[in-house]
Amino acid sequence: MPVPLLDLKAQHATIRDEIVGAMLEVVDSQLFILGEPVEHLEREVANLSRAKHAIGCASGTDALLLAFRALDIGRGDEVVTTPFTFFATAATIHNVGAKPVFADIEPRTFNINPAGAKAVVTSRTKAIVPVDLFGQMAPIECIRELLPSLPIIEDAAQSIGAKRTIGGAERLAGEYATIGTFSFFPSKNLGAYGDGGMMVTQDDALATRLRRLRVHGGLKTYFHDEVGYNSRLDALQAAVLRAKLRHLEQWSEKRRVNARYYNDAFTDIPQIVTPFVDPRNISIFNQYTIRAERRDELQQYLAARKIGSAIYYPLPLHLQPCFAYLGYKEGAFPDSERAAKEVVSLPVFPELTRAQLDEVAAAVRSFYAT
Ligand SMILES: Cc1ncc(COP(=O)(O)O)c(C=O)c1O
Repeated sequence: MPVPLLDLKAQHATIRDEIVGAMLEVVDSQLFILGEPVEHLEREVANLSRAKHAIGCASGTDALLLAFRALDIGRGDEVVTTPFTFFATAATIHNVGAKPVFADIEPRTFNINPAGAKAVVTSRTKAIVPVDLFGQMAPIECIRELLPSLPIIEDAAQSIGAKRTIGGAERLAGEYATIGTFSFFPSKNLGAYGDGGMMVTQDDALATRLRRLRVHGGLKTYFHDEVGYNSRLDALQAAVLRAKLRHLEQWSEKRRVNARYYNDAFTDIPQIVTPFVDPRNISIFNQYTIRAERRDELQQYLAARKIGSAIYYPLPLHLQPCFAYLGYKEGAFPDSERAAKEVVSLPVFPELTRAQLDEVAAAVRSFYAT
């Protein structure tokens, strides 16, 4: 039985009427850019991340870009982040003219190591970007404690709705950061039917700046206080996202159930390390990512049985050709480099059937039995 890594058609089938109804309302209104559906979604995402403000934009990539611009980060500045993340995290630092400076990950969670981040901070460092990888929040409070004066841009593209207990209270992804950024890329837990993104913040002045930057730097039409971007969320995407938001918590819970199923199925396979979730965290499992011996062979074995899997990410960012100018060499970040060689993500999407879960688990088990 084939098991795709992600089956968006299966999800769409469960909500088709809601989605089509919401999209038709927008089509009938003929109001496609920003507008009411976006404002409603912004309020809902602000509530979801307990943020004072939420500002929609065109993608998770743009959310990072606008966040850097709102903090006046540019030429001559440095921004610290992890090399074990999606390309956009560092690309946006580069694209505002600043220099990405990397710090290695904690091998168990794959998230940035706060002490390592502190060690690379200089007088030019203007911000730090922890990434909530695979749906698990980074240790954001440890970063704040070690680096209290640095703004934190939390790349929460993969972690909307994730939680972490901080100082005895449960905090949500995006809530604790200077600016939190979300992606609504279709494969995310809350995925649009196209591109979309959002920024959240507790800071009134930053929120106003972000709103201005997304509409060419001027809140009054045809008057521009600064040069910004065309980075608006469109109403059709907002309508889709609002309809899907009602299901998000239940979908993320189903991902956790699926993750537990695999964890149990793999406990007696010494060649596999199942995902470690910090006891302070509740992950949303955007990915279920294991470390596996003979990883590439395992992936081929699964592919031959029509079971989807993916490597997030095969080459850490400090070794990407486009970042050669930064001067990092192989061996600079051993935990990220090792992770890139060992990780593989398995299907964990909420609509997986018991038979599909069994199929994946049996295939992995039979690979290591050979
Ligand atoms: C960690 C991370 N950062 C940034 C992004 C960029 O988001 P988008 O694809 O919406 O531009 C993504 C997702 O693709 C991501 O996974």
